[in-house]
Amino acid sequence: MTTIAVILRDGTEQHLPAQSGFSVMETIRDAGIDEMLALCGGCCSCATCHVIVDPAWIDAVGGPSADESDLLDSSDHRVATSRLSCQIAIAPELDGLRVTIAPED
Ligand code: FES
Repeated sequence: MTTIAVILRDGTEQHLPAQSGFSVMETIRDAGIDEMLALCGGCCSCATCHVIVDPAWIDAVGGPSADESDLLDSSDHRVATSRLSCQIAIAPELDGLRVTIAPED
């Protein structure tokens, strides 16, 4: 089973079981964490699923597409390792992935 670590806005860390084929956003949402709105449901059109990938993991995760990058530009909190969590697919090689839920815009 793949497990990902998610750091919440209050600084607490949760370790969540994650299933291949689902996104990081779905994994967070299905764990009952409601501070990440994910308003568009994963269609890459809202940017409310913004997470900051631990720099140690960004090579494995990869960078955003052009459309995703445009959406991330709308955030005041974008950093070099920002991604939209609905666009990161869970895979076995991401076991141990660490992401931080970005501050709310
Ligand atoms: S849930 Fe809307 S862009 Fe990810």
